[in-house]
Amino acid sequence: MMLIHSTSEFIAWRKSVANQTVAFVPTMGALHSGHHSLIAHAAQQCHLVVVSIFVNAMQFGDADDFNTYPRSEQSDYLASVTAGANVVFAPHQQEIFPADFDRYLTPSSLANDYEGKHRPGHFAGVVTVVNRLFDIVQPDVVIFGAKDYQQVAVIRAMSDELHPTIRIVTLETVRDTDGLALSSRNTRLNTASRLQAQVIPRTLQAIATLHAQGETRSHVLKSEGLKILELVPNILVEYLEIVQQDTLNTVDEARNAVVLFAGVLDGVRLIDNLLLQ
Ligand code: PAF
Repeated sequence: MMLIHSTSEFIAWRKSVANQTVAFVPTMGALHSGHHSLIAHAAQQCHLVVVSIFVNAMQFGDADDFNTYPRSEQSDYLASVTAGANVVFAPHQQEIFPADFDRYLTPSSLANDYEGKHRPGHFAGVVTVVNRLFDIVQPDVVIFGAKDYQQVAVIRAMSDELHPTIRIVTLETVRDTDGLALSSRNTRLNTASRLQAQVIPRTLQAIATLHAQGETRSHVLKSEGLKILELVPNILVEYLEIVQQDTLNTVDEARNAVVLFAGVLDGVRLIDNLLLQ
């Protein structure tokens, strides 16, 4: 088990295991049991598992959000190893973005709406850092959680173009017993807002139930969802949209669709989604 901070040291290690397959779990640290299950799954996929911990300033619009993002390298290292990681790569800023770095990427059009609209520049930062990490780690398989639905779609598009041999695997969102999707940001919710946040999975579940009962009109599903969210006036809804699973275009009829949600509760931005099967 190794904790590596330097890119050159990591590349030397990767060369030394060139004949072994590597499953990769990229993270920004503050690991929770959702991450642990990604790592445990990774360990079943390949000979070796690499977890990266890098809080990528380029994908944060707001300096405060970046500065207050929870950081816990030592406990993240231990948790990663316990879950099955062989190497934790926790590079410093200049290791990933040295002064002469110039491989900035533009994300595909899948990045245009939803998160892309509400967080301008976010996905450019994500694809730029993930491409850089893929170049360094040279993984065979990369594992993501489905909570960041649009992020996975945007990364998959980048990877299919620039890293066609990498297999991207998405695992179902891990939820707490109250239904709230696990997120590093949940630790910022106080007891009251934590209770109020339960309206998010409740809304998604209510939409899925209506859909399962045969209601496929998106505008009906959406307005029923918004009625439930309105019960918690503290939540500032950024979007609640019913979109096609592959194209992320909004649809009139919800078939092969996914509900995407983002909102802010007491200053904490939360996202979630649920597939409508
Ligand atoms: O989802 C995350 O934690 C980050 O966006 C990622 C994929 C590690 C890129 O910084």
